[in-house]
Amino acid sequence: MSKKLRFETKAIHVGNKPDEETGAVSPPIHVTSTYQQDAVGKDKGYDYSRAVNPTRQRYEENISSLEGGDYGIAFSSGMAAITALFQTLSQGDHVIVGRNVYGGTYRMCVEVLSRHGIEFDFVDTRFSDQIESAIQSNTKWIFVETPTNPLLEICDIKSTSTLCKKNGIQLVVDNTFMSPYGQSPLALGANLVMHSATKYIGGHSDLIGGILITNNSDLADSLYFIQKSGGAIPSPFDCWLLLRSTKTLGLRVQKQSDNALELCHRLESHHAIESIIYPGLASHPQFELAKRQQLNPNGHPIFGSMISIRLGSIEARDQFLSKINLFTLAESLGGVESLVCIPYDMTHGSVPVEMKDMMGLTEDLIRLSVGIENLEDIYADISEAL
Ligand SMILES: Cc1ncc(COP(=O)(O)O)c(C=O)c1O
Repeated sequence: MSKKLRFETKAIHVGNKPDEETGAVSPPIHVTSTYQQDAVGKDKGYDYSRAVNPTRQRYEENISSLEGGDYGIAFSSGMAAITALFQTLSQGDHVIVGRNVYGGTYRMCVEVLSRHGIEFDFVDTRFSDQIESAIQSNTKWIFVETPTNPLLEICDIKSTSTLCKKNGIQLVVDNTFMSPYGQSPLALGANLVMHSATKYIGGHSDLIGGILITNNSDLADSLYFIQKSGGAIPSPFDCWLLLRSTKTLGLRVQKQSDNALELCHRLESHHAIESIIYPGLASHPQFELAKRQQLNPNGHPIFGSMISIRLGSIEARDQFLSKINLFTLAESLGGVESLVCIPYDMTHGSVPVEMKDMMGLTEDLIRLSVGIENLEDIYADISEAL
């Protein structure tokens, strides 16, 4: 039944059935570590909360329906979700990763998982020939982030999934930057979707979470096994907050993206800005792909709320930061409040300088995460700081 419902309706209703016992419309938070059993080996489907928890189940059901998937596997952070995926691999397996992925993903691959014998190659996933030439006989996954952080480079999910299928490789898309509202990787052929739920899904900068979504029951089983075995699970309270947050996901993401697009149009020719990167601008080299791939549930192109601008020097950057008021200097993104960050030193601090140089990630680059404030107020704030 839920598959037929539209996004906004699923966001409100899936996983949100009133409590059977009391009728409470807002689902209860099951704050329990363990469950009474009727007899040895006879429980009510719940035995221990690391393995299963009703509030977590509600959240997993809700988010997987929003991604068009059958299974959701929730974790205590985006990084725990990514790590769990790689824990399904064995020594000697090979993974192709976008060269411009989140700094923490890069650090986990290079500094931790490589030591356990998993091999990684980093490629520019804008170019399918680069992906293809990195494929080896032991390649198991291609891990793609699109659009990337903070350069907003786009990978063509559909053509990459075709390449994966041809070579018997699985494709995972880190969909954090678009949210389930703005991009549907499973529908485009990906095997798995990953989110840092800390960002748009949570949406209020008040929790850390991660989730994986798939339609493949074998893959889901092995991920539930890692979830249970490793125990990097979100608390019942965080699951409840996330379940509450997805009710407004569509409203928030649409408003944030509308704000960002209009800001970009107004700022595009500002004399103090050396360059502005946003997939919704015709000047973005992959504008056509963004229009095709990043669609909201009504089929309209949507470009997200992340904007990167270059001011030409560290001095200009620091002057901007000292004057901006409504944008808080902080890591993270996707929340209702606008944030500003310097990826070179902050989110990508752990990425080697040579890699940052190669990607064109410069010290003067400022990343804006646009919130749901009134457009005129945030525009005035940026204009004044510039
Ligand atoms: C694109 C992307 N993926 C993964 C992560 C990691 O998620 P978390 O911070 O929830 O562990 C982040 C965090 O910033 C991110 O931006």
